Amino acid sequence: MELVFATGNAHKVGEIAALIPPDIQLKSLADIGCTDDLPETSPTIAGNALQKARYVHERFGVHCFAEDTGLEIDALQGRPGVYSARYAGPGKDDAANIALVLKQMQGVANRSARFRTVIALILDGQEHLFEGVVEGHIAEALAGKGGFGYDPIFIPQGEIRSFAQMDLHTKNTISHRAKATAMLLDFLHSR
Ligand code: IMP
Repeated sequence: MELVFATGNAHKVGEIAALIPPDIQLKSLADIGCTDDLPETSPTIAGNALQKARYVHERFGVHCFAEDTGLEIDALQGRPGVYSARYAGPGKDDAANIALVLKQMQGVANRSARFRTVIALILDGQEHLFEGVVEGHIAEALAGKGGFGYDPIFIPQGEIRSFAQMDLHTKNTISHRAKATAMLLDFLHSR
């Protein structure tokens, strides 16, 4: 089957494409001629994932899915959460977002946090949601050059390395996105 991944984020494509078996043909927005910036104005992660998937499904009539991800920090009452991309301002600047988090977490003992990904699938006009969560904590400083976004300051539970210190395969064995993708694949293969 053909399935469009409704995202403009090449890092997300790379991680999910590495998990998709050959019986599913993953298509990009470029493949269907969609160059639009997808809307994500919902106050929830699931709402944003659905909003992006619905946008593509309504205009292109394809089987598609979208995902939205947030970093939830307990000491910051769950922020940046759904506002993760624009936490330090509208520029979606990863370095500025990380700098703001590290500043707010300076001297804070409880550093527990989690990444949450929701995948919204629209298949034959029906909507389905899949959620993946990985627990961990916020590091005191950046470490690693891999990954993207907040990866240099997130250390998953049971690890001493940040996500940015892992290769894609290792991140893909434990990440929030990999867990949500595994649920998506289970669902697709059960049909
Ligand atoms: P969005 O899901 O594209 O809206 O991303 C929300 C924010 O979280 C952006 O700042 C991303 O860079 C960041 N982000 C999304 N997924 C990950 C991840 O797997 N690791 C680290 N940061 C991420």
